[in-house]
Amino acid sequence: MQIFFFSLILCFVLIFSETIQEDKKALLDFDSSSLLHWNKSSSVCDHWTGVTCNGNKDRVVSIRLPGIGFNGLIPPFTISRLSSLKILSLRKNRFIGEFPSDFINLKNLTHLYLQHNRLSGPLPTSLSELKSLKVLDLSNNGFNGSIPSSISGLTSLKVLILANNSFTGEIPDFDLPNLRQIDLSNNKLIGTIPKSLERFQESAFSGNNITERKKQHKTPFGLSQVAFLLILAGACILGVSGLSCMMITCFRKARISAKLRKRDSSSPPSGNWTSRDDNNVEEGGKIIFFGGRNHSFDLDDLLSSSAEILGKSAFGTTYKVAIEDMSTVVVKRLKEVVVGRREFEQQMEIIGMIRHENVTELKAYYYSKDDKLAVYSYYTQGNLFEMLHGNRGMYDRVPLDWDARLRIATGAARGLAKVHEANNGKFIHGNIKSSNIFVDSECYGCIGDLGLTTIMKSLPQTTCITTGYHAPEITDTRRTTQFSDVYSFGVVLLELLTGKSPVSPADSVTSPEKNMDLASWIRSVVVHEWTGEVFDMEILTQSGGFEEEMVEMLQIGLACVAIKQQERPHITQVVKLIEDIRIN
Ligand SMILES: *[C@@H]1O[C@H](CO)[C@@H](O)[C@H](O)[C@H]1NC(C)=O
Ligand SMILES: *[C@@H]1O[C@H](CO)[C@@H](O)[C@H](O)[C@H]1NC(C)=O
Ligand SMILES: *[C@@H]1O[C@H](CO)[C@@H](O)[C@H](O)[C@H]1NC(C)=O
Ligand SMILES: *[C@@H]1O[C@H](CO)[C@@H](O)[C@H](O)[C@H]1NC(C)=O
Ligand SMILES: *[C@@H]1O[C@H](CO)[C@@H](O)[C@H](O)[C@H]1NC(C)=O
Repeated sequence: MQIFFFSLILCFVLIFSETIQEDKKALLDFDSSSLLHWNKSSSVCDHWTGVTCNGNKDRVVSIRLPGIGFNGLIPPFTISRLSSLKILSLRKNRFIGEFPSDFINLKNLTHLYLQHNRLSGPLPTSLSELKSLKVLDLSNNGFNGSIPSSISGLTSLKVLILANNSFTGEIPDFDLPNLRQIDLSNNKLIGTIPKSLERFQESAFSGNNITERKKQHKTPFGLSQVAFLLILAGACILGVSGLSCMMITCFRKARISAKLRKRDSSSPPSGNWTSRDDNNVEEGGKIIFFGGRNHSFDLDDLLSSSAEILGKSAFGTTYKVAIEDMSTVVVKRLKEVVVGRREFEQQMEIIGMIRHENVTELKAYYYSKDDKLAVYSYYTQGNLFEMLHGNRGMYDRVPLDWDARLRIATGAARGLAKVHEANNGKFIHGNIKSSNIFVDSECYGCIGDLGLTTIMKSLPQTTCITTGYHAPEITDTRRTTQFSDVYSFGVVLLELLTGKSPVSPADSVTSPEKNMDLASWIRSVVVHEWTGEVFDMEILTQSGGFEEEMVEMLQIGLACVAIKQQERPHITQVVKLIEDIRIN
């Protein structure tokens, strides 16, 4: 009996190791010239570059080897032996030859990325046997011949990118109900756009000899007018709730000076400013500049300039102040400061010392009994919240493309890493959210509004400003941590990917289930199996096929919003991971 069980177990072990050993052999055959330096004596599931195994560690499920520098033919009958493979990316290499016909053995393949290689010749009609395929990107190769109509058999297909090849003939009338994105641009196709593909933007077919479509009363994104109106109404509701929540007022012209002067009549600040190297501290209040006397304005200039209200929040009002012919700055008038002058100044000194291209510059601050001001540089492009959610559904909305989103995330992550370095590596931002991330002229994100929560009155958890961004363990907004900063940053990444606002997610048209914040919603969707449903349609309708990069970003975002704070990555790791998404 014992012997029987023993041999049974042995048998299982053998079967188990058989498959993973087979997978290992297939991979080693694929990389026979050892370009990847895979460690032959370790398990494939153990830090082999680009290789991911399933949860049981008994099969290889994903291979991502972009930009490695492979050339020649894709070694036949190597990768196609990995029968459990779901994701294969060999993009940006220099592979030549035809589409590997043996790939049709990969029955479980969902994502195939072969773009930016030198593959050529016609596509095999047997391609349709890849029944699980959801994303196919063969763009930027030299494929020719006609697009096989058998692609209609790929019923799960959601994304088809064949741009920048030499395909000829007419576009087949695909019957692909799940198709959400297609790009056939820059080929040698002729004829007309078939009925089944009329719902896609014209740009998906540009650079061919395709007869122009008759101009119809098309709404943006090719929606029916009723659907468009519904979404528009939804966007308005979202807009209104967002407005009342964020209280972004519509650029009401106001004179900051009048208000300030009135309030300060007991201890007028005018004329009492000094530069930072002046030791003469006066009781009424003084403006402190960073960077010595090299500033282009003084408090009087500031107070006499016209100001627009940019926004109001629980922490005070933000003005855009255009100083006559000189420069534009942002002035934040802080209310609810609960610390004394000394502590306020100490905190401002630390913030003012942080100099980095991805951190907004604190130019000056002002402290008096009645008023506390912080003066920052102004970003003409505005903040990420406006860029992501402003004018949604409106005809004049400028969509934020994936490249821009990636750059914003990269910059913001670098900025936050710099912030965490300050004060001997102990500094905390405390209030990361999309409206505190500004966008510079090169479209990189810059972190703003740092270090204020610790000097302000704590906000109740229900305040709409913080809902959705705050880590679950934070019950007092004055007691945030670097861990909770990373959590909030993760929420911003999810916001970038989904286009949904964590501030007002309970919207019936565009948002997830009521009473669920963005992080919880995405966790609940992703837990089953990765699904592209979460991504912002605005990126998906853009040509390019960036889903793979977006999936990588999704994984980073999810790691940041781990419930247990010790499981969240350090911000320096986050920077590295984001920088690695795109290998150029
Ligand atoms: C390869 O893996 C083995 C077993 O895990 C380990 O002992 C060895 O140090 C590794 N070699 C290299 C070069 O990393
Ligand atoms: C392919 O996927 C199905 C469903 O996910 C699974 O049951 C099957 O075992 C997989 N096939 C292989 C060869 O891994
Ligand atoms: C496709 O390209 C190959 C060379 O790459 C050429 O030999 C073949 O004739 C081309 N086929 C068509 C249909 O253009
Ligand atoms: C475009 O296609 C039409 C036939 O559909 C053909 O008559 C015309 O010559 C083609 N134009 C070019 C520039 O290839
Ligand atoms: C095709 O090539 C053009 C020009 O090089 C490029 O702008 C475009 O992004 C490419 N399309 C895709 C889908 O890669």
